[in-house]
Amino acid sequence: MKVLVIGSGGREHAICWKLAQSPNVDKIFCATGNGGIELEHKCSNVNITKIDDLMDFVLKKNIGLTVVGPEIPLTDGIVDKFKSKGLSIFGPSLKASMLEGSKIYSKNFMKKYGIKTAEYEIFDNVNKALKYIENCSYPVVVKADGLAAGKGVSICQNYSEAKVALEDFMIKDVFKGAGKNVIIEEFLQGVEASILTITDGNTIIPFISSKDHKQIYDGGIGPNTGGMGAIAPNPYCSEEVLKDFKENIMNPTLRGIRQEKLDYTGIIFFGIMITKKGVYLLEYNVRMGDPETQAVLPLMKSDFIDLIQAALSGKLLDFNLEWKKGACCCVVAASKGYPVKYDSGFEIKGINSESNIFTAGVKKEDGIFKTCGGRVLSAYGIGDNLNGAIECAYKNLKKISFDGMYFRKDIGK
Ligand code: AMP
Ligand code: GLY
Repeated sequence: MKVLVIGSGGREHAICWKLAQSPNVDKIFCATGNGGIELEHKCSNVNITKIDDLMDFVLKKNIGLTVVGPEIPLTDGIVDKFKSKGLSIFGPSLKASMLEGSKIYSKNFMKKYGIKTAEYEIFDNVNKALKYIENCSYPVVVKADGLAAGKGVSICQNYSEAKVALEDFMIKDVFKGAGKNVIIEEFLQGVEASILTITDGNTIIPFISSKDHKQIYDGGIGPNTGGMGAIAPNPYCSEEVLKDFKENIMNPTLRGIRQEKLDYTGIIFFGIMITKKGVYLLEYNVRMGDPETQAVLPLMKSDFIDLIQAALSGKLLDFNLEWKKGACCCVVAASKGYPVKYDSGFEIKGINSESNIFTAGVKKEDGIFKTCGGRVLSAYGIGDNLNGAIECAYKNLKKISFDGMYFRKDIGK
């Protein structure tokens, strides 16, 4: 089978890498891909972005399956469009994608189906929101309703911080419409975990748990990034936590999907907070996480394409999803200055098909790999345990170099 993967980051590199291992896959196209993906056996980039053009490409090349990486094509309705032409695509429908695309929709969904989440209020009027923050308890979390490239959440320690956030979101319109409506919610204290799952709409299977490292500096300080590294499994996800998650979050979510008749064949990524009062759901994402995918897929023993095909044919219930023993760590190397301002175009040394890396902001020019983004690449390592995986990931990262290369030294610690 030929497969099309949509996206261009490290997550998509990991997806292509894993799919390429399947004997059932002959060829993978990645739209638009990045400079390192073509190092993978069977993989080529294609420079197509519009949904209509992607459909034409799939028809012309006789591609049997399309796998969507990022959220934007999903919330743009790519799945509905492909399906209307009879094309096989893995991902939730436009309506189901609202679970990520609108925080108001997702919080109301959580409330309706009894899913444990932070207490919240919804506002479409800035004056009412400003009035509310005069008397709420702090810290408080202000969230833009719509997609804001991971920047739509502000944790505010006091009234003046909350006021700035509300004015930025609702008046200055920094997210171009996405912050017109906001949620103000209770701050939860705890440790976070990312749990990816796969569903065919009737069955839901969790993947091995994982943990992102969102802040730029060691010790979890500094501004949030797209993710500076990840580990799997997440050491905080004990049996007890996973039981709580399945009973009170994952299974009621599936009930809700069925009751709302959402057309959902894809990944549901649960961002959870493990607190002293149990597990809370922070958010849904309707796609795999980045960089979680880069730490989770190397541990998947099963054939990924078989898993996806089982979901698409409604047969997940019969699928025995298997994982390798041990742990995986992935460490992101970013451009100096990221996540604020950074320069690009530096030569990257050490990339080859054996280097155990997933590339993101990487382009190839005249045979030379160069940086072209904030998060440039990640190196991963597998070990018998977490410490072994961490050591291996940093050893692999050591083989890579470029001017201004920055990475956290404490991923998984
Ligand atoms: P979200 O996009 O909702 O996952 O929020 C992004 C990040 O903000 C999360 O990964 C958490 O680190 C943090 N966050 C979101 N909601 C809360 C909350 N209610 N309490 C504490 N931290 C939160
Ligand atoms: N790593 C968090 C995300 O992909 O949204």
